[in-house]
Amino acid sequence: MNHALTLDDVAGLARARLSPPVWDFVAGGAGDERTLAANRDVFDRVWLRPRVLTGAGRPGLGTRVLEADWAAPIGVAPLAYHTMAHPEGEAATARAAGERGLPLVVSTFAGTAFEQIAAVTAAPLWLQVYCFRDRATTRAVVERAERAGFAALVLTADTPHLGRRLRDVRNGFVLPPGVAPANLAPGDYASPAAHGRDELDPDLDWSVIGWLRSITALPVLVKGVLTGEDARLAVQAGAAGVIVSNHGGRQLDGVPPTLRVLPEVVQAVAGRGPVLLDGGVRRGTDVLVALALGADAVLLGRPVLHGLAIGGAAGVGRVLDILVEELTDAMTLTGTGSVKDAGPALVREQW
Ligand code: FNR
Repeated sequence: MNHALTLDDVAGLARARLSPPVWDFVAGGAGDERTLAANRDVFDRVWLRPRVLTGAGRPGLGTRVLEADWAAPIGVAPLAYHTMAHPEGEAATARAAGERGLPLVVSTFAGTAFEQIAAVTAAPLWLQVYCFRDRATTRAVVERAERAGFAALVLTADTPHLGRRLRDVRNGFVLPPGVAPANLAPGDYASPAAHGRDELDPDLDWSVIGWLRSITALPVLVKGVLTGEDARLAVQAGAAGVIVSNHGGRQLDGVPPTLRVLPEVVQAVAGRGPVLLDGGVRRGTDVLVALALGADAVLLGRPVLHGLAIGGAAGVGRVLDILVEELTDAMTLTGTGSVKDAGPALVREQW
């Protein structure tokens, strides 16, 4: 594991550990996977404009999001069933993130009980909410997370049903034995696509933000925003912040890479709450570019499951350490002293 120097190295090791259908479930995207590829490619089209002799010294990576301290502008994106990658699941992830002062967004489909997750980290925990047709189920999940000490909700808005993930269709993907949601009532969860089609509420509108706020005191962020128009509506509806995300290319193939739409979302939100970005972040320079284009922080998806697969909490720790070290390197070598010093002058499109 210590030979892995990049997140791509970790992915290569993880691929050998996971069964092919689970690897495909994690790695795959919707349709032809154009959006999935573009999430990565877009970072390769941006160059950093370093400043020298700034006297900035060792950068400070710490930041504050929703009145909580983060050791770096990096959190763990909501990912279903960490138990698919390692038996300790979300508890291992939370331990690794918590030891580093980094937050974790826990999926509605977590494979580990919220209370067990909360017991092993003092860093912020947010609950990702899938709103079900049965609001009582959604409400029970939210209340359980709030009781466990979670600090915010993240409503995933881009999933009226699961996207057409052709790898999973071809594999006839079902959850491996023993993998099930730990915070939902027993049911038939074997096929995520079929469960989503039957149980997710496809009719949601912006009033769902008000409903969530009526059942909890926690701030609500909206994940899956890809336009300035929706960012504005999210804030008007009472959202505390937005997450620019195309679900890692897993929902609609053909939507733009997240970095492309980040500036219009930042402009629309206009400082009324944090703007986070996920999708394709694999290097410290990717994090810095996202900050420069206005993100307050980024969330990391697949690499976390890769880390879990290769070594549980130690593997996730390795992934987070690599990214933090690379970000430190990138900030040092561009003369960026702190997260708030990263601005548009730091980047330029390919020329
Ligand atoms: C996800 N994602 C996701 N999002 C969400 O809101 N709830 C969820 O339960 C899940 N589950 C999930 C499982 C797996 C295996 C993957 C790969 C992704 C999407 C996730 O939060 C995030 O948007 C992307 O993964 C970010 O892109 P990268 O970093 O994986 O490129």
